[in-house]
Amino acid sequence: MEHREYDLVVFGATSFVGKILCRYLVDQYGTGADLKWAIAGRSEAKLGALKRELGEAALPMIVADADDIAGLNAMCLQTRVVISTVGPYALFGEPLVQACVQTGTDYCDLTGEVQWIRQMIVRYEDQARSSGARIVHCCGFDSIPSDLGVWFLQNEATKDFGEPCNQVRMRVKAARGGLSGGTVASLINVTKEAASNPQLRKELANPFSLAPAGHKSSKRQPNVKGAQYDPDFGVWLAPFMMAPINVRIVHRSNALQGTPYGQEFLYDEAMMTGKGLKGRLAALGITAGLGGFIAGAAIKPTRWILERFVVPKPGEGPSPESQKSGFYDLRFIGQTADGRTLRTKVTGDRDPGYGSTAKMLGEAGVCLARDVRNTDRAGGFWTPASIFGETLVERLKTNAGLTFDRID
Ligand SMILES: NC(=O)c1ccc[n+]([C@@H]2O[C@H](COP(=O)([O-])OP(=O)(O)OC[C@H]3O[C@@H](n4cnc5c(N)ncnc54)[C@H](OP(=O)(O)O)[C@@H]3O)[C@@H](O)[C@H]2O)c1
Repeated sequence: MEHREYDLVVFGATSFVGKILCRYLVDQYGTGADLKWAIAGRSEAKLGALKRELGEAALPMIVADADDIAGLNAMCLQTRVVISTVGPYALFGEPLVQACVQTGTDYCDLTGEVQWIRQMIVRYEDQARSSGARIVHCCGFDSIPSDLGVWFLQNEATKDFGEPCNQVRMRVKAARGGLSGGTVASLINVTKEAASNPQLRKELANPFSLAPAGHKSSKRQPNVKGAQYDPDFGVWLAPFMMAPINVRIVHRSNALQGTPYGQEFLYDEAMMTGKGLKGRLAALGITAGLGGFIAGAAIKPTRWILERFVVPKPGEGPSPESQKSGFYDLRFIGQTADGRTLRTKVTGDRDPGYGSTAKMLGEAGVCLARDVRNTDRAGGFWTPASIFGETLVERLKTNAGLTFDRID
Protein backbone atom coordinates (compact mmCIF):
# COMPACT_ATOMS: atom_id res chain seq x y z
CA MET A 1 0.00 0.00 0.00
CA GLU A 2 2.81 2.43 0.89
CA HIS A 3 4.04 2.41 -2.72
CA ARG A 4 0.77 3.26 -4.42
CA GLU A 5 0.77 6.39 -6.52
CA TYR A 6 -2.54 7.89 -5.40
CA ASP A 7 -4.32 8.32 -2.10
CA LEU A 8 -7.63 8.02 -3.91
CA VAL A 9 -9.22 7.50 -7.29
CA VAL A 10 -12.75 8.65 -8.13
CA PHE A 11 -14.24 5.94 -10.36
CA GLY A 12 -17.30 7.26 -12.20
CA ALA A 13 -15.89 10.81 -12.06
CA THR A 14 -18.13 11.79 -14.99
CA SER A 15 -21.41 10.79 -13.28
CA PHE A 16 -23.76 13.49 -12.07
CA VAL A 17 -22.60 13.11 -8.48
CA GLY A 18 -19.00 12.32 -9.51
CA LYS A 19 -18.58 15.74 -11.13
CA ILE A 20 -19.81 17.52 -8.00
CA LEU A 21 -17.45 15.38 -5.93
CA CYS A 22 -14.45 16.24 -8.16
CA ARG A 23 -15.24 19.96 -7.89
CA TYR A 24 -15.37 19.54 -4.11
CA LEU A 25 -12.02 17.73 -4.00
CA VAL A 26 -10.39 20.39 -6.19
CA ASP A 27 -11.73 23.18 -3.96
CA GLN A 28 -11.01 21.45 -0.66
CA TYR A 29 -7.77 19.57 -1.32
CA GLY A 30 -6.37 20.91 -4.61
CA THR A 31 -4.67 18.64 -7.14
CA GLY A 32 -1.15 17.25 -6.98
CA ALA A 33 -0.82 18.77 -3.50
CA ASP A 34 -0.90 16.91 -0.22
CA LEU A 35 -3.76 14.65 -1.34
CA LYS A 36 -2.80 12.70 -4.47
CA TRP A 37 -5.88 11.76 -6.43
CA ALA A 38 -7.02 10.88 -9.93
CA ILE A 39 -10.25 10.61 -11.89
CA ALA A 40 -11.36 7.40 -13.59
CA GLY A 41 -14.17 6.25 -15.85
CA ARG A 42 -14.96 4.37 -19.01
CA SER A 43 -14.71 7.26 -21.49
CA GLU A 44 -11.42 9.02 -22.15
CA ALA A 45 -13.26 11.81 -23.99
CA LYS A 46 -15.64 12.45 -21.08
CA LEU A 47 -12.78 12.40 -18.56
CA GLY A 48 -10.89 14.92 -20.72
CA ALA A 49 -13.97 17.16 -20.87
CA LEU A 50 -14.29 16.95 -17.08
CA LYS A 51 -10.67 18.05 -16.63
CA ARG A 52 -11.36 21.07 -18.83
CA GLU A 53 -14.56 21.84 -16.90
CA LEU A 54 -12.59 21.70 -13.64
CA GLY A 55 -9.77 23.79 -15.13
CA GLU A 56 -7.28 21.10 -14.03
CA ALA A 57 -5.34 19.98 -17.09
CA ALA A 58 -2.77 18.09 -15.00
CA LEU A 59 -5.31 16.03 -13.05
CA PRO A 60 -4.33 12.39 -13.71
CA MET A 61 -6.93 10.13 -15.29
CA ILE A 62 -7.39 6.38 -15.64
CA VAL A 63 -9.61 4.77 -18.24
CA ALA A 64 -11.36 1.62 -17.00
CA ASP A 65 -14.64 -0.10 -17.71
CA ALA A 66 -16.83 -1.42 -14.89
CA ASP A 67 -16.88 -4.87 -16.59
CA ASP A 68 -13.15 -5.22 -17.17
CA ILE A 69 -11.70 -6.94 -14.12
CA ALA A 70 -8.09 -6.76 -15.40
CA GLY A 71 -8.42 -2.99 -16.00
CA LEU A 72 -10.04 -2.53 -12.58
CA ASN A 73 -7.26 -4.51 -10.87
CA ALA A 74 -4.66 -2.33 -12.59
CA MET A 75 -6.53 0.80 -11.44
CA CYS A 76 -6.78 -0.48 -7.86
CA LEU A 77 -3.05 -1.23 -7.70
CA GLN A 78 -2.33 2.48 -8.27
CA THR A 79 -4.32 3.76 -5.29
CA ARG A 80 -4.97 3.27 -1.59
CA VAL A 81 -8.70 4.06 -1.88
CA VAL A 82 -11.29 3.88 -4.66
CA ILE A 83 -14.44 5.99 -4.41
CA SER A 84 -17.10 4.67 -6.78
CA THR A 85 -20.17 6.46 -8.11
CA VAL A 86 -20.82 3.94 -10.91
CA GLY A 87 -24.39 2.78 -10.33
CA PRO A 88 -26.89 1.20 -10.20
CA TYR A 89 -24.36 -0.81 -8.23
CA ALA A 90 -26.41 -4.00 -8.49
CA LEU A 91 -25.89 -3.77 -12.27
CA PHE A 92 -22.32 -2.45 -12.53
CA GLY A 93 -20.66 -2.61 -9.10
CA GLU A 94 -19.51 -6.17 -8.39
CA PRO A 95 -16.30 -6.40 -10.48
CA LEU A 96 -14.88 -3.33 -8.74
CA VAL A 97 -15.63 -4.70 -5.26
CA GLN A 98 -13.97 -7.93 -6.38
CA ALA A 99 -10.92 -6.02 -7.68
CA CYS A 100 -10.63 -4.07 -4.41
CA VAL A 101 -10.76 -7.17 -2.22
CA GLN A 102 -8.27 -8.96 -4.51
CA THR A 103 -5.78 -6.11 -4.39
CA GLY A 104 -6.32 -5.05 -0.74
CA THR A 105 -7.62 -1.63 -1.80
CA ASP A 106 -10.01 0.35 0.41
CA TYR A 107 -13.34 1.28 -1.15
CA CYS A 108 -16.36 3.47 -0.48
CA ASP A 109 -19.51 4.16 -2.48
CA LEU A 110 -23.04 5.56 -2.54
CA THR A 111 -25.10 2.44 -2.90
CA GLY A 112 -28.33 2.14 -0.96
CA GLU A 113 -29.20 -1.21 -2.60
CA VAL A 114 -29.74 -3.56 0.36
CA GLN A 115 -29.87 -6.76 -1.68
CA TRP A 116 -26.60 -6.00 -3.46
CA ILE A 117 -24.76 -5.05 -0.26
CA ARG A 118 -25.82 -8.35 1.26
CA GLN A 119 -24.57 -10.27 -1.77
CA MET A 120 -21.22 -8.47 -1.64
CA ILE A 121 -20.80 -9.28 2.07
CA VAL A 122 -21.65 -12.94 1.52
CA ARG A 123 -19.35 -13.27 -1.51
CA TYR A 124 -16.33 -11.18 -0.52
CA GLU A 125 -16.08 -10.66 3.23
CA ASP A 126 -13.61 -13.52 3.83
CA GLN A 127 -11.37 -12.32 1.01
CA ALA A 128 -11.53 -8.70 2.25
CA ARG A 129 -10.48 -9.88 5.70
CA SER A 130 -7.45 -11.67 4.32
CA SER A 131 -6.39 -8.97 1.84
CA GLY A 132 -6.99 -6.09 4.28
CA ALA A 133 -9.43 -4.19 2.00
CA ARG A 134 -11.91 -2.07 3.99
CA ILE A 135 -15.20 -1.84 2.09
CA VAL A 136 -17.63 0.89 3.16
CA HIS A 137 -20.98 1.13 1.37
CA CYS A 138 -23.62 3.82 1.93
CA CYS A 139 -21.39 6.88 2.27
CA GLY A 140 -23.96 9.42 1.02
CA PHE A 141 -27.19 10.84 2.39
CA ASP A 142 -28.04 7.21 2.84
CA SER A 143 -26.73 6.43 5.33
CA ILE A 144 -24.13 8.79 6.85
CA PRO A 145 -26.44 11.32 8.61
CA SER A 146 -28.56 8.50 10.11
CA ASP A 147 -25.68 6.22 11.05
CA LEU A 148 -23.45 8.93 12.52
CA GLY A 149 -26.51 10.73 13.92
CA VAL A 150 -27.36 7.68 16.04
CA TRP A 151 -23.68 7.21 16.92
CA PHE A 152 -23.54 10.85 18.10
CA LEU A 153 -26.75 10.61 20.15
CA GLN A 154 -25.63 7.39 21.83
CA ASN A 155 -22.29 8.96 22.77
CA GLU A 156 -24.08 11.90 24.36
CA ALA A 157 -26.52 9.55 26.12
CA THR A 158 -23.66 7.51 27.53
CA LYS A 159 -21.99 10.71 28.82
CA ASP A 160 -25.23 11.99 30.41
CA PHE A 161 -26.94 8.85 31.60
CA GLY A 162 -24.08 6.37 31.85
CA GLU A 163 -25.93 4.16 29.38
CA PRO A 164 -27.16 4.28 25.78
CA CYS A 165 -30.76 4.81 24.72
CA ASN A 166 -32.57 1.60 23.96
CA GLN A 167 -34.78 3.34 21.43
CA VAL A 168 -33.94 6.09 18.91
CA ARG A 169 -36.35 7.65 16.43
CA MET A 170 -35.15 9.74 13.50
CA ARG A 171 -37.57 12.25 11.99
CA VAL A 172 -36.86 14.26 8.84
CA LYS A 173 -38.01 17.71 9.95
CA ALA A 174 -37.24 19.44 6.66
CA ALA A 175 -35.35 18.73 3.44
CA ARG A 176 -35.11 20.39 0.06
CA GLY A 177 -33.48 18.99 -3.12
CA GLY A 178 -34.31 16.94 -6.20
CA LEU A 179 -33.57 13.38 -7.27
CA SER A 180 -31.03 12.37 -9.92
CA GLY A 181 -31.40 9.89 -12.75
CA GLY A 182 -28.86 7.53 -11.14
CA THR A 183 -30.78 7.32 -7.86
CA VAL A 184 -34.10 6.78 -9.60
CA ALA A 185 -32.51 4.09 -11.81
CA SER A 186 -31.28 2.31 -8.64
CA LEU A 187 -34.72 2.52 -6.98
CA ILE A 188 -36.45 1.21 -10.08
CA ASN A 189 -33.94 -1.63 -10.37
CA VAL A 190 -34.49 -2.87 -6.80
CA THR A 191 -38.29 -2.62 -7.14
CA LYS A 192 -38.13 -4.58 -10.40
CA GLU A 193 -35.96 -7.32 -8.84
CA ALA A 194 -38.19 -7.55 -5.76
CA ALA A 195 -41.35 -7.89 -7.87
CA SER A 196 -40.13 -11.22 -9.30
CA ASN A 197 -38.11 -12.54 -6.34
CA PRO A 198 -39.96 -13.61 -3.15
CA GLN A 199 -36.67 -14.38 -1.32
CA LEU A 200 -35.53 -10.80 -1.97
CA ARG A 201 -38.89 -9.45 -0.72
CA LYS A 202 -38.37 -11.44 2.49
CA GLU A 203 -34.85 -10.05 2.86
CA LEU A 204 -36.06 -6.50 2.26
CA ALA A 205 -38.63 -6.95 5.05
CA ASN A 206 -36.00 -8.01 7.61
CA PRO A 207 -34.52 -5.00 9.48
CA PHE A 208 -31.47 -7.12 10.42
CA SER A 209 -30.76 -8.36 6.89
CA LEU A 210 -27.36 -6.62 6.89
CA ALA A 211 -26.38 -7.51 10.44
CA PRO A 212 -23.33 -9.81 10.55
CA ALA A 213 -23.74 -13.56 10.95
CA GLY A 214 -24.19 -14.55 14.58
CA HIS A 215 -25.78 -11.24 15.66
CA LYS A 216 -28.21 -11.72 18.52
CA SER A 217 -30.75 -8.96 17.81
CA SER A 218 -34.23 -9.99 16.86
CA LYS A 219 -36.43 -7.42 18.61
CA ARG A 220 -39.47 -6.48 16.52
CA GLN A 221 -38.83 -2.99 15.16
CA PRO A 222 -41.23 -0.05 14.86
CA ASN A 223 -41.91 0.96 11.25
CA VAL A 224 -43.91 3.93 9.96
CA LYS A 225 -45.69 2.46 6.95
CA GLY A 226 -48.46 5.02 6.50
CA ALA A 227 -49.80 8.35 7.82
CA GLN A 228 -49.32 8.25 11.60
CA TYR A 229 -49.47 10.79 14.46
CA ASP A 230 -46.27 11.25 16.49
CA PRO A 231 -46.98 12.40 20.07
CA ASP A 232 -43.26 13.03 20.78
CA PHE A 233 -43.02 15.76 18.18
CA GLY A 234 -46.75 16.63 18.01
CA VAL A 235 -46.84 16.20 14.22
CA TRP A 236 -48.04 13.80 11.54
CA LEU A 237 -45.58 11.37 9.98
CA ALA A 238 -45.20 9.73 6.58
CA PRO A 239 -42.87 6.90 5.54
CA PHE A 240 -39.33 8.00 4.64
CA MET A 241 -38.01 6.60 1.36
CA MET A 242 -34.46 6.04 2.67
CA ALA A 243 -35.55 4.32 5.92
CA PRO A 244 -35.20 0.74 4.60
CA ILE A 245 -31.47 1.12 3.96
CA ASN A 246 -30.67 3.47 6.87
CA VAL A 247 -32.32 1.22 9.48
CA ARG A 248 -30.31 -1.79 8.31
CA ILE A 249 -27.04 0.13 8.32
CA VAL A 250 -27.68 1.43 11.86
CA HIS A 251 -28.35 -2.12 13.09
CA ARG A 252 -25.22 -3.40 11.31
CA SER A 253 -23.20 -0.61 12.96
CA ASN A 254 -24.53 -1.63 16.36
CA ALA A 255 -23.54 -5.25 15.76
CA LEU A 256 -20.09 -4.46 14.31
CA GLN A 257 -19.23 -2.27 17.30
CA GLY A 258 -20.16 -5.06 19.74
CA THR A 259 -23.78 -3.91 20.38
CA PRO A 260 -23.04 -0.71 22.36
CA TYR A 261 -26.68 0.36 21.73
CA GLY A 262 -27.89 -2.92 23.27
CA GLN A 263 -29.27 -6.12 21.76
CA GLU A 264 -32.84 -4.94 22.19
CA PHE A 265 -32.16 -1.63 20.44
CA LEU A 266 -35.11 -0.13 18.53
CA TYR A 267 -34.69 2.27 15.63
CA ASP A 268 -37.01 3.77 13.04
CA GLU A 269 -37.19 6.71 10.64
CA ALA A 270 -40.05 8.79 9.22
CA MET A 271 -40.79 12.19 7.71
CA MET A 272 -42.60 14.91 9.63
CA THR A 273 -45.40 16.42 7.56
CA GLY A 274 -46.76 19.00 9.98
CA LYS A 275 -49.56 19.59 12.46
CA GLY A 276 -53.35 19.27 12.17
CA LEU A 277 -55.37 18.45 9.09
CA LYS A 278 -52.76 19.87 6.71
CA GLY A 279 -50.08 17.61 8.19
CA ARG A 280 -52.36 14.60 8.04
CA LEU A 281 -53.29 15.22 4.40
CA ALA A 282 -49.62 15.67 3.46
CA ALA A 283 -48.77 12.38 5.21
CA LEU A 284 -51.56 10.60 3.32
CA GLY A 285 -50.38 12.16 0.04
CA ILE A 286 -46.75 11.09 0.51
CA THR A 287 -47.81 7.56 1.47
CA ALA A 288 -49.97 7.29 -1.66
CA GLY A 289 -47.24 8.79 -3.89
CA LEU A 290 -44.59 6.38 -2.60
CA GLY A 291 -46.96 3.43 -3.00
CA GLY A 292 -47.78 4.57 -6.54
CA PHE A 293 -44.10 4.83 -7.47
CA ILE A 294 -43.33 1.36 -6.12
CA ALA A 295 -46.37 -0.15 -7.84
CA GLY A 296 -45.46 1.67 -11.07
CA ALA A 297 -41.83 0.56 -11.00
CA ALA A 298 -42.76 -3.09 -10.30
CA ILE A 299 -44.56 -3.74 -13.59
CA LYS A 300 -43.11 -3.47 -17.06
CA PRO A 301 -45.53 -1.13 -18.90
CA THR A 302 -45.70 1.51 -16.12
CA ARG A 303 -41.98 1.12 -15.44
CA TRP A 304 -41.31 1.97 -19.08
CA ILE A 305 -43.54 5.07 -18.82
CA LEU A 306 -41.81 6.17 -15.60
CA GLU A 307 -38.32 5.72 -17.12
CA ARG A 308 -39.22 7.31 -20.45
CA PHE A 309 -41.34 10.31 -19.43
CA VAL A 310 -41.60 10.93 -15.69
CA VAL A 311 -38.26 10.57 -13.89
CA PRO A 312 -34.84 12.10 -14.70
CA LYS A 313 -32.56 10.02 -16.93
CA PRO A 314 -29.11 8.76 -15.82
CA GLY A 315 -26.71 11.70 -15.86
CA GLU A 316 -29.48 14.20 -15.04
CA GLY A 317 -30.17 15.75 -11.65
CA PRO A 318 -30.95 18.92 -9.71
CA SER A 319 -29.65 22.25 -11.09
CA PRO A 320 -26.68 23.99 -9.40
CA GLU A 321 -29.17 26.54 -7.95
CA SER A 322 -31.35 23.84 -6.48
CA GLN A 323 -28.28 22.04 -5.06
CA LYS A 324 -27.16 25.30 -3.46
CA SER A 325 -30.55 26.20 -1.99
CA GLY A 326 -31.08 22.63 -0.76
CA PHE A 327 -30.63 21.54 2.86
CA TYR A 328 -31.83 19.00 5.42
CA ASP A 329 -32.67 18.96 9.10
CA LEU A 330 -32.94 15.58 10.84
CA ARG A 331 -34.17 15.25 14.41
CA PHE A 332 -33.32 12.34 16.70
CA ILE A 333 -35.00 11.47 19.96
CA GLY A 334 -33.50 8.80 22.17
CA GLN A 335 -35.06 7.15 25.19
CA THR A 336 -33.42 4.99 27.85
CA ALA A 337 -35.09 1.89 29.28
CA ASP A 338 -36.23 3.93 32.32
CA GLY A 339 -37.69 6.76 30.22
CA ARG A 340 -34.98 9.47 30.20
CA THR A 341 -34.84 11.25 26.85
CA LEU A 342 -32.25 13.07 24.79
CA ARG A 343 -32.81 15.09 21.61
CA THR A 344 -30.21 15.82 18.95
CA LYS A 345 -30.15 17.05 15.38
CA VAL A 346 -28.05 16.64 12.25
CA THR A 347 -28.25 19.26 9.52
CA GLY A 348 -26.55 19.68 6.17
CA ASP A 349 -26.21 22.50 3.69
CA ARG A 350 -26.83 21.76 -0.02
CA ASP A 351 -29.39 19.31 -1.36
CA PRO A 352 -29.18 15.97 0.46
CA GLY A 353 -28.89 13.62 -2.55
CA TYR A 354 -26.12 15.41 -4.48
CA GLY A 355 -24.53 18.59 -3.11
CA SER A 356 -24.22 17.22 0.41
CA THR A 357 -23.79 13.58 -0.63
CA ALA A 358 -20.77 14.42 -2.81
CA LYS A 359 -19.07 16.16 0.12
CA MET A 360 -19.82 13.28 2.51
CA LEU A 361 -18.50 10.71 0.04
CA GLY A 362 -15.34 12.74 -0.57
CA GLU A 363 -14.66 13.09 3.16
CA ALA A 364 -15.32 9.38 3.72
CA GLY A 365 -12.71 8.59 1.04
CA VAL A 366 -10.17 11.00 2.53
CA CYS A 367 -10.90 9.61 6.00
CA LEU A 368 -10.16 6.07 4.71
CA ALA A 369 -6.93 7.21 3.08
CA ARG A 370 -5.68 9.32 5.95
CA ASP A 371 -7.33 8.71 9.28
CA VAL A 372 -8.27 5.06 9.76
CA ARG A 373 -5.21 2.92 10.36
CA ASN A 374 -5.26 -0.71 9.25
CA THR A 375 -4.16 -1.70 12.74
CA ASP A 376 -7.32 -0.10 14.18
CA ARG A 377 -9.79 -1.28 11.54
CA ALA A 378 -8.87 -4.44 9.66
CA GLY A 379 -10.10 -5.62 6.26
CA GLY A 380 -13.82 -6.39 5.93
CA PHE A 381 -17.21 -4.81 5.25
CA TRP A 382 -17.75 -1.85 7.55
CA THR A 383 -20.40 0.85 8.00
CA PRO A 384 -19.70 4.60 8.28
CA ALA A 385 -20.25 4.70 12.05
CA SER A 386 -18.32 1.52 12.82
CA ILE A 387 -15.21 2.44 10.83
CA PHE A 388 -15.13 6.26 11.02
CA GLY A 389 -17.08 7.42 14.13
CA GLU A 390 -15.67 10.62 15.60
CA THR A 391 -13.07 11.25 12.84
CA LEU A 392 -15.70 11.56 10.13
CA VAL A 393 -18.06 13.58 12.35
CA GLU A 394 -15.25 16.11 12.81
CA ARG A 395 -14.37 16.18 9.10
CA LEU A 396 -18.01 16.67 8.12
CA LYS A 397 -18.44 19.50 10.61
CA THR A 398 -15.21 21.23 9.63
CA ASN A 399 -15.29 20.78 5.85
CA ALA A 400 -18.62 19.56 4.55
CA GLY A 401 -21.35 21.80 6.01
CA LEU A 402 -22.87 19.28 8.44
CA THR A 403 -23.75 19.97 12.06
CA PHE A 404 -24.25 17.46 14.89
CA ASP A 405 -25.84 19.09 17.94
CA ARG A 406 -27.78 18.44 21.09
CA ILE A 407 -31.13 20.12 21.54
CA ASP A 408 -31.35 20.85 25.25
N1 LIG B 1 -26.64 7.24 -1.35
C1 LIG B 1 -26.97 8.42 -1.80
O1 LIG B 1 -27.32 9.27 -1.04
C2 LIG B 1 -26.85 8.67 -3.27
C3 LIG B 1 -26.94 9.95 -3.77
C4 LIG B 1 -26.71 10.16 -5.13
C5 LIG B 1 -26.45 9.07 -5.97
N2 LIG B 1 -26.43 7.84 -5.44
C6 LIG B 1 -26.11 6.68 -6.31
O2 LIG B 1 -24.89 6.96 -6.97
C7 LIG B 1 -24.91 6.39 -8.27
C8 LIG B 1 -24.55 7.47 -9.26
O3 LIG B 1 -25.62 8.42 -9.35
P1 LIG B 1 -25.63 9.51 -10.50
O4 LIG B 1 -26.94 10.15 -10.50
O5 LIG B 1 -24.43 10.36 -10.36
O6 LIG B 1 -25.49 8.54 -11.78
P2 LIG B 1 -25.24 8.85 -13.31
O7 LIG B 1 -25.06 10.31 -13.54
O8 LIG B 1 -26.27 8.10 -14.06
O9 LIG B 1 -23.80 8.18 -13.57
C9 LIG B 1 -23.55 6.82 -13.69
C10 LIG B 1 -22.05 6.66 -13.93
O10 LIG B 1 -21.78 5.29 -14.18
C11 LIG B 1 -20.86 5.23 -15.26
N3 LIG B 1 -20.91 3.95 -15.93
C12 LIG B 1 -22.00 3.30 -16.42
N4 LIG B 1 -21.62 2.14 -16.99
C13 LIG B 1 -20.26 2.06 -16.86
C14 LIG B 1 -19.28 1.12 -17.24
N5 LIG B 1 -19.61 0.00 -17.89
N6 LIG B 1 -17.99 1.36 -16.92
C15 LIG B 1 -17.63 2.48 -16.27
N7 LIG B 1 -18.51 3.43 -15.88
C16 LIG B 1 -19.82 3.21 -16.18
C17 LIG B 1 -21.27 6.35 -16.18
O11 LIG B 1 -20.20 6.65 -17.04
P3 LIG B 1 -20.31 7.75 -18.22
O12 LIG B 1 -20.19 9.09 -17.52
O13 LIG B 1 -19.15 7.45 -19.07
O14 LIG B 1 -21.65 7.58 -18.87
C18 LIG B 1 -21.52 7.44 -15.14
O15 LIG B 1 -20.32 8.08 -14.81
C19 LIG B 1 -26.30 5.79 -8.45
O16 LIG B 1 -26.22 4.41 -8.22
C20 LIG B 1 -27.14 6.45 -7.38
O17 LIG B 1 -28.17 5.63 -6.89
C21 LIG B 1 -26.62 7.61 -4.14
